[in-house]
Amino acid sequence: MTERERVQSDEAKGPPETDPRIEGEKHPIARMIGIGLVASVIGIAITLWIDWFPESAAGSANKIDTLYDVLLICSVPVFVLVMTIAIYSVVRFRAKPGDMGDGAPIHGNTRLEIIWVTIPFIMVTALAIYGWIVLDDLEAKQRNEMVVKVTGQQFTWSFEYPSEQVSSPELVLPVDRPVEFRIQTKDVIHSFWVPQFRLKSDAVPGLTTTIRLTPDKPGRYEVVCAELCGLGHSTMRQFVRVLPAADFDTWVQNEKQAAGGGGGGGQAAAPSGEELFSSEGCGGCHTLKAAGTTAKVGPDLGKLGAAANAKFIRTSIVDPNADVTKGYQPDIMPGNFGTALSKEELDALVKYLLEAQE
Ligand code: CUA
Repeated sequence: MTERERVQSDEAKGPPETDPRIEGEKHPIARMIGIGLVASVIGIAITLWIDWFPESAAGSANKIDTLYDVLLICSVPVFVLVMTIAIYSVVRFRAKPGDMGDGAPIHGNTRLEIIWVTIPFIMVTALAIYGWIVLDDLEAKQRNEMVVKVTGQQFTWSFEYPSEQVSSPELVLPVDRPVEFRIQTKDVIHSFWVPQFRLKSDAVPGLTTTIRLTPDKPGRYEVVCAELCGLGHSTMRQFVRVLPAADFDTWVQNEKQAAGGGGGGGQAAAPSGEELFSSEGCGGCHTLKAAGTTAKVGPDLGKLGAAANAKFIRTSIVDPNADVTKGYQPDIMPGNFGTALSKEELDALVKYLLEAQE
């Protein structure tokens, strides 16, 4: 008997009266539902038990964590449903050795199709509405908001407090006071993110994006750039300090005095070279022992050696591609410092770098 004839004779016989694998299986669907329910409960318990997020340090975090838990509770049963049916079908309807026949022809099942379109539609719509309500809540304007302007640049963040008239390379926030971050970038797209606050927003050239949150736990957390922005992306990390309100006021006073030289009004003194090194973000890419920076995207500016002269330093700031240090790539350093800095600022920065040679 050839293979073909054997298959044909098998088909002619039709399905066997009893399949030993399903004997005693009177209610396969009830059994599947039973297995599915148990698996769902175990799955939900595991996903809720896993600690997905770092500690929370802002009011927004709790709402976001709850939203995430609801998403987990909804998605585990869907995953279990799909896997239960798939695994059950693989086991239950597996072809016997030598069975080359086709399965029975079917032309769909209207009732089943309506069910599997309607239920996911309702679930996804309900979750989208819930997510929208949470988002709307998080974006709502708060009373007594403090505005902080966040500026990203390759590869550092800087922070400005317009009503406090302070700018700082470090983000410092008072606890329990709502903050509105206005996020901008000087060059490419970055993304402002503090994991403990949960919220994240891109800094997009030409736009000001906004996030609102209220830090509710004093501490020190990391500010992370969450958008690949160039060679120094992974080093684009700073700290945010959340302080009690009184300590924050003290910090603001200290910053003001440091910036204004204790000045009582009038024009603020021109920034020193050291301040410019910090505010322009030089330390985001360069090591400089005098400034305590250790980044390695660009050359160590404290070890210029024979190149430590005013002309070379000035040219390297204004036209970074003019003379690229061996071992480094061109086009990494932004080329706009020549226009961003005034002549006096450039002089101060060059002088500072000359003095900072080791
Ligand atoms: Cu800035 Cu990544």
